[in-house]
Amino acid sequence: MTAPRAAAMLSLYSPESSQPVSSYHVKSFGCQMNVYDSERMGDLLEGAGHVPADRAEAADIVVLNTCHIREKAAEKLYSDIGRLRQLRPDGSRPVIVAAGCVAQAEGAEIGRRAPAVDVIVGPLAYHRLPELLREAAAIPEDARRASWGRAIDTDMPASPKFASLPPRRHQGASAFLTVQEGCDKFCSFCVVPYTRGGEVSRPFADLVAEAEALVAAGAVEITLIGQNVNAYGLELGGGATLPALIAELAQLEGLKRIRYTTSHPRDMTRELIEAHAAIPKLMPYLHLPVQSGSSRILKAMNRAHTRDSYLATLAELRAVRPDIALSGDFIVGFPGETEEDFADTLRIVEEVGYAQAYSFKYSQRPGTPAATMPDQVPEDVKAERLARLQAAITAGAHAFNRASVGRHTDILLERPGRKPGQLIGKTPWLQSAVVAIPGAKIGDLIAVEITEGQPNSVEAIPLQTERTAA
Ligand code: 5AD
Ligand code: SF4
Repeated sequence: MTAPRAAAMLSLYSPESSQPVSSYHVKSFGCQMNVYDSERMGDLLEGAGHVPADRAEAADIVVLNTCHIREKAAEKLYSDIGRLRQLRPDGSRPVIVAAGCVAQAEGAEIGRRAPAVDVIVGPLAYHRLPELLREAAAIPEDARRASWGRAIDTDMPASPKFASLPPRRHQGASAFLTVQEGCDKFCSFCVVPYTRGGEVSRPFADLVAEAEALVAAGAVEITLIGQNVNAYGLELGGGATLPALIAELAQLEGLKRIRYTTSHPRDMTRELIEAHAAIPKLMPYLHLPVQSGSSRILKAMNRAHTRDSYLATLAELRAVRPDIALSGDFIVGFPGETEEDFADTLRIVEEVGYAQAYSFKYSQRPGTPAATMPDQVPEDVKAERLARLQAAITAGAHAFNRASVGRHTDILLERPGRKPGQLIGKTPWLQSAVVAIPGAKIGDLIAVEITEGQPNSVEAIPLQTERTAA
């Protein structure tokens, strides 16, 4: 028997109800861009009269903002839907929205596999979410249970959704700002160019206006995000580039810290590298995925860079900003990867000295060129290589954290620590710093000395109790 449809949906969007009040919860999987999108969907739902609920269990509408990058991430959608269907003792369930990249890639297939889903919306169409909820409410229950009976929008419209979004409302001391979406690089393992479409940059003036609004609402740190953030503006021409945007935002008085992620080695322009020397508010941290240390594998991955060109870019960066902390992404077990190729990956980790890094087992994604390449690597070999790589990455991160002991710096307080009186903040190098500062609060920028380096964090003591000007 199917669970009764959420009563909230009907009353919410029926013509008689002029004041819908119901709660929503957005659950984010995946990258920072999904976190930003989730926040913007929240803005839309609040604009339509809904109120936030902090748990899916308590919400009338649950949005699952999915990630499609690896198989495991995609599978989470189906297990969550299964849980939501059986959530309540009275047999009712919330309105379920499947959003994000799985929704884009699998579209109607989700409806067949998980008939409980009411709305399916892709990452380029979520500005239509309130409208899609209304459409779904108008579909009769028996039709909705059939695979075609739900509101779906997985179009990739030419006009960007950003123009249709309401002003930002949520935010704290640290905020994300999406500056570009999509990817034209077509790495042979990756679904992003298919799910998020080609590279599209937002207009420069809109971004400055959104950043101003964030700062006026209390943001002291902004992280500029995009699938290929350093390709920002390159397709627009006319000087609207990432370094130009960073320079412009650095003029905002209340803004103390600027970051950007994720970058592609191919688009690390000289101008952007120099921005790391010229703009003090640009934090000394760069996430620059390499994926593999073997040039042979990089070629098969269609990465458009080699081991040597990647290392040359890092050398240029370190020449202008010697303290820059580096981070990367790695894939182990790409088709054809030999033990020798993998040894090159371990060597590059040693050579670069990453402050942190993310590593994944290669996951075969349908529709990507690598999925049908010969010499797929067995699962146990991938698992064994991943364990070795992660040990090397952790050792490197620990060494980086230990090397920062004695540094005097600022940390931006983000959340309470595990023990009473403890707070956790971020150093300029994006280390989590644990500190006890009486009277300090989340959002404060505090001067500290780093006293201890752990594998995943540092410990610090305050240099003074009052707020510092960065
Ligand atoms: N398998 C494993 N990891 C992948 N990534 C992207 N596609 C795949 C895949 N098919 C990783 C890359 C990328 C990060 C966001 O996810 O390392 O940089
Ligand atoms: Fe995927 Fe490569 Fe584009 Fe990154 S650059 S989103 S890994 S295709």
